Amino acid sequence: MELRRTLIGGAGLVLAAGLSTLWVLSDATPRFNAEDNRIPAGDAARGKLVFIAADCASCHARPGQPDRLRLGGGLSLASPFGTFRVPNISPDPVDGIGTWSVTDLANALIAGVSPEHKHYYPAFPYPSYTGMALQDVADLYAYLRTLPPVAGRAPPHDLPLIFRYRRMIAGWKWLFFREGRSAASLTGEPVHDRGAYLVEVLGHCADCHSTRNVLGAIKPKTRFAGGPDPEGTGFVPNITPDGIGDWSEDDIVRALTTGDTPNHGRLGSSMTDVVANTASLPESDRRAIARYIKSLPARPTPKP
Ligand code: HEC
Ligand code: HEC
Repeated sequence: MELRRTLIGGAGLVLAAGLSTLWVLSDATPRFNAEDNRIPAGDAARGKLVFIAADCASCHARPGQPDRLRLGGGLSLASPFGTFRVPNISPDPVDGIGTWSVTDLANALIAGVSPEHKHYYPAFPYPSYTGMALQDVADLYAYLRTLPPVAGRAPPHDLPLIFRYRRMIAGWKWLFFREGRSAASLTGEPVHDRGAYLVEVLGHCADCHSTRNVLGAIKPKTRFAGGPDPEGTGFVPNITPDGIGDWSEDDIVRALTTGDTPNHGRLGSSMTDVVANTASLPESDRRAIARYIKSLPARPTPKP
């Protein structure tokens, strides 16, 4: 009897220790705190280019109105895990992020952690943005402050019960997220390396141009080799040399400027918003993106 009680007591202790370890491990730890002086002062004019290159408006602009700078959110993003509703990130102090500090924005983009110390779902592409330069975060913050406040909140995400619990994202991050790291392969050549940053970090191009595993993370062998559209309709093309190897660097620059492809087609569907962005970037940035895309290793298109 005594022994059994001890055993049960012991098992209870182990379980409690295990659960509290999980609790601690699943905590969302911000990377920066308010006293941090690592974040430099920002410049709104430069931040505008970061905003464009990083594609924020494609998800956060309020749908059903033409102004891409009204970041009231509300777009529904379908996924195999349920439907995410993009939040309001306009400077509205109640419904948007008007009360946020630059530290809060840095923690969201680089660590995927909210001001309430909760994990964000990777439907928000912070696994790419995590490689952002702090100067770019500061500039982006300064620019976001200049945009019009928009009232109204998006409805909550529509997720099955098991995915509603944000502590679970800690496990996903442990498996697939490397805070502060980017997938860019650098050579030291400035145009190529600028392209690496624009493609891998700000442009998050791999988010659409790759195939994902059952947990929704990009399969490394399919990076840029194409995959089913993340929203579930159609197939996003392979942009490694296996797919567009016959496009020259100039062809890619032209496609990112006008949407015209060398085979006399036009880029459509979700690439339309991307081209709207790249068309507004300086020519040197489109050139840099094209150079990096040309340097990608050839990878076969995965079977749909
Ligand atoms: C592919 C769509 C997509 C893109 C592109 C995107 N976001 Fe988001 N963003 C989301 C989703 C979805 C969430 C909600 C995540 C969650 O609830 O965990 C979100 C959340 C956020 C939040 C947290 C808001 C809050 O109220 O807690 C901020 C801030 C944010 N995004 C800023 C940005 C910025 C800045 C950019 C551009 C650099 C950007 N996002 C690009 C989809 C996107
Ligand atoms: C939101 C999803 C999405 C993102 C992000 C995205 N793309 Fe695309 N891309 C597409 C889709 C969808 C197509 C196919 C368009 C069509 O069929 O008209 C495409 C087509 C292309 C093509 C033409 C390929 C071909 O064979 O015709 C190139 C080049 C390209 N994308 C480059 C990029 C680059 C560079 C980035 C990052 C700056 C990027 N894409 C980001 C969805 C995306």
